[in-house]
Amino acid sequence: MLKKTVAAAAVALIAAQTLPVLAADVKQVEVMHWWTSGGEAKALGVLKDDLKQRGYSWKDSPIAGGGGEAARTVLRARVASNNPPDAMQMLGFSVQDYADEGLLTNLDAIAAKGGWDKLIPAPIQRFSRAGGNWFAVPVGVHSTNWLFINKKIFDELKLTPPQTFDELVVTADKIRKAGYIPLAHGGQAWQDATLFDSAVMSAGGTRFYTDALVRLDPKALGSKTMEKAFDQMRKLRGMVDANFSGRDWNLASSMVINGKAAMQIMGDWAKGEYANAGKKPGVDYVCAHYPGTQNAFIFVTDQFATFKAGKERTAGQYAFAEAIMDKNTQARFNQTKGAVPARLDTPMDGFDECGVKAMTDMRSALQAGNMVGSFAHGQAMPEASKTAVYDVVTHFFNSSQSSADAVKRLVAAVEGSK
Ligand code: GAL
Repeated sequence: MLKKTVAAAAVALIAAQTLPVLAADVKQVEVMHWWTSGGEAKALGVLKDDLKQRGYSWKDSPIAGGGGEAARTVLRARVASNNPPDAMQMLGFSVQDYADEGLLTNLDAIAAKGGWDKLIPAPIQRFSRAGGNWFAVPVGVHSTNWLFINKKIFDELKLTPPQTFDELVVTADKIRKAGYIPLAHGGQAWQDATLFDSAVMSAGGTRFYTDALVRLDPKALGSKTMEKAFDQMRKLRGMVDANFSGRDWNLASSMVINGKAAMQIMGDWAKGEYANAGKKPGVDYVCAHYPGTQNAFIFVTDQFATFKAGKERTAGQYAFAEAIMDKNTQARFNQTKGAVPARLDTPMDGFDECGVKAMTDMRSALQAGNMVGSFAHGQAMPEASKTAVYDVVTHFFNSSQSSADAVKRLVAAVEGSK
C-alpha cells in the first residue's frame, strides 16, 4: 500500500514537473549566454525582439562572466543532467566538440534555405560546421587587438595613439606621471589571455601567431620572438593599477569612459559599453589597434548552437536560427554590440566610424587570407591546449617570472596538453 502511494506520488510529481513545462516550452526558446554587461544586454534585446515577432518567446538564461567560462561550466552540468538549453552561445572549438558528441541540432535545412554557405566567410564557417554540416549560427565577428583610448586625457597630455610598442611604453609613462592609470585591466585569466593575443601578434606578425598559437609549432612557441611577446606582457603589467585583480572587463571599460584610466586593450565588445554610456568615437574615445597589429585581424565569432530536442522544440530552434541570420537584425545587433556582422552582405550604413573600420579590416583580412582566430577566446587551439596556455600566461602576469622561463613553460604546457 505504502509502496503504491509512493509510486503514485512520484508519478504525480513527475507529471507536475514535466507536463506543464512541456506544454509551455513549445512556443519558447531558452537561450543561455554570458551577455550581461550594459552594452551586451542591450544588443541581445535586438535578437529577443526579432524572435518575438516570429511568434516565440525568449526564455533568458544569462550566466554572468565575461568570456563565458562560467556559462560553459553551467552548460556542461546541464548537458550531463540531460537538460540542455535550446540554444547556447558558443565560441570556437566548443561547437565541434558538442557536435562530435551528437548533441546538436543539424541546421543544414535552414542554412540551405538562407544561403548561409555564400553569406558567411569561410574562416567563420569553420567554427559553425562540423563534418560539413551546420551546427551553429554565427551572429557577429569581434576582434581582440584593439586599444581604446580616452580622448580627453590624450588631448590634455598632447598624446597620439601609439604606433609601436615602444611608443606605448613612453605614452603610458607620461599618463602615469600626469596622475592617471595608463591601462585599465581586469586580472582574470581570459583578460590576461586577451592581452596575450595582441602581444604575440605584435611581436611576430600573423605568420608567427599562426605557427605558434594555431599550429602549436614547438619551434615558434619556444622562440626568441615568443620571449618578446612575454616582454610586452611584463611591460603591460606595469601599466595597470594596484586593484586590477579580478576586475570585470566592463568595469575596466568604465574606468576609461569615466576618465580614471587612459586606455584599455580589449575586444571590440568594449565599444558596446561606450555606446551604452552615450560616448561617441572620435569625440569621446578613439578606437586604435594595439601597436604592431595594425594590419591584423584576430577574430572571435559568437555563434549559437542549438541542442537536439523534440520535433516541436526544433521548430522554435529553427525560428531562432532564422532570427539570428536576419539581415536587418544582424545589422542592428552588431551596431549595438560593437561587432562586425557575420553576414558579408550587410551594408555599412548605420555603423559608426569604429564599426566601419572593423568591417573594412575584416574584409581586407579575408581577401589577404590572414584572418586568424583568437587564442584567448578559443578560436586558435583546442580547449585542452587553451587551458594549459591560459595557466602559463596568467602565472607569468602575476609573478616575476622571466620571459625565458615562461617560454620554456609554454612549450612544455602545450606539449603536455596535446
Ligand atoms: C567574448 C564574447 C564577446 C563578449 C566578451 C565579453 O567571449 O565573444 O561577445 O561578450 O566575451 O563578455
